[in-house]
Amino acid sequence: MNLRSGRLKGKMTSDAASFTSSLEFDRRIFQADIRCNQAHTTMLKEQGIIPADEADKIIEALQKLEAEGIDSLNMDPSVEDIHMAVENYVTSQIGEAAGFMHTGKSRNDQVATDLRLVLKDEILDIQADILKFILNILDMASQHTETVMVGYTHLQHAQPTTFAHHLLSYAYALKRDYQRLQDAYRRVDMCPLGSAALTTTSFPINRDRTRELLGFSVLLENSIDGVSSRDFMAETVSALSILSMTLSRICEELIIWSTYEFGMVEIAGEYSSTSSIMPQKKNPDVAEIARAKTAAVYGELNTILTILKSLPQSYNRDLQEVTPHLWSAVDNSHSILTITTDMLSTTTFNKERGKELADANFSTATELADLMVKEKNLPFRVAHQIVGRTVTKAIEGRIKPSDINSEFIDIVAHELTGEFLMLDNTKVKDALDPEKVVRTRKVVGGPASEMVEEAIGRLREFVNRESE
Ligand code: ARG
Repeated sequence: MNLRSGRLKGKMTSDAASFTSSLEFDRRIFQADIRCNQAHTTMLKEQGIIPADEADKIIEALQKLEAEGIDSLNMDPSVEDIHMAVENYVTSQIGEAAGFMHTGKSRNDQVATDLRLVLKDEILDIQADILKFILNILDMASQHTETVMVGYTHLQHAQPTTFAHHLLSYAYALKRDYQRLQDAYRRVDMCPLGSAALTTTSFPINRDRTRELLGFSVLLENSIDGVSSRDFMAETVSALSILSMTLSRICEELIIWSTYEFGMVEIAGEYSSTSSIMPQKKNPDVAEIARAKTAAVYGELNTILTILKSLPQSYNRDLQEVTPHLWSAVDNSHSILTITTDMLSTTTFNKERGKELADANFSTATELADLMVKEKNLPFRVAHQIVGRTVTKAIEGRIKPSDINSEFIDIVAHELTGEFLMLDNTKVKDALDPEKVVRTRKVVGGPASEMVEEAIGRLREFVNRESE
């Protein structure tokens, strides 16, 4: 049966057919479309809306198609979309009775239902991979709870921490990315089927039954909303954009930390490239591509929001154009996630270099100021000034942080305050020792190994709970 034979004379030009067809990216909803037709036909039969024997024939033909696969469909652009291709297939199998399948149903509610069905699975797959990544990070962190490194602010040496503590900052960000997808999932998991074109139908369909058959949690109740809304896509791609952002930041750190200047990590050869001219090169290409693909995900979000902007309610064909951008964002973010997981898990941390950098450049200065507050009851601002001046003087005199002692500090303290602090030299040494400083950071969320161990335990519980 040709869809156009009633209202329209003749075919679209082949250019117009190709221009408007969604068949290529509809491949992704092929199975969902079969399920949707099966559920709808089953419900029509149960409600006595269509003859039971015709319904059975339809369902059988759909099963046959499912077994044969998409290659059994005529995918010529003139067919318009997957819904027509499937209907044409059923017609080829059982004749005009196939037409019963479309009773009280429109392609408008059908496509919205199919897209939601597929996207639900995609979200669950990505969520499972986020959990895997978190577990990988936790395993790595367990190996590095005593591995000292310098923490940065403004990409300048700030305070000592451990590699494990830094890794956990990734894990917590990924946990929120996971939860954002979980939230988005709730709004994807709503069934628009039965909205029909936009106002439902006068046939006594049972929307709750098709919802149940398709495994949706709730109905997307209002039928105009049912066929109009694609906010579930914008929301999911927004969550995927934020996930990609997290991943791009991890990749960026691997790129910077693997430079000769930092020398803090070594990315595995499997995730590196070399140069066609410079034989010595080891380049972090995978991390760079991941960083760049993040932009592509953001681009899709922007495209989706822009297509949806100002669209009048109910179905507009513009909505079709959102779909390929959804799949592109899903695929790109998912591949960034899995490659970053594999790359980070095979990256090694250079413990000697971590310690060397933590020792080198006064990353313990805050603790020295804190010592003055604790021991001599100085207001923190005064201590801050004394230490700041001490560091300047040490840099000018090429004095290493580990060589600073109470006498040296007192030259500055006397200059600034007219008094000598006479700090205990053992305490000064301890305050300037990155490993000891890290051990004192026992506040929740801090880098002391026992705090990091506890955090690892809590994150493991989270992953276990979510994996059930
Ligand atoms: N291919 C269309 C889409 O992806 C399906 C719905 C078509 N509806 C219509 N009235 N032309 O949105």
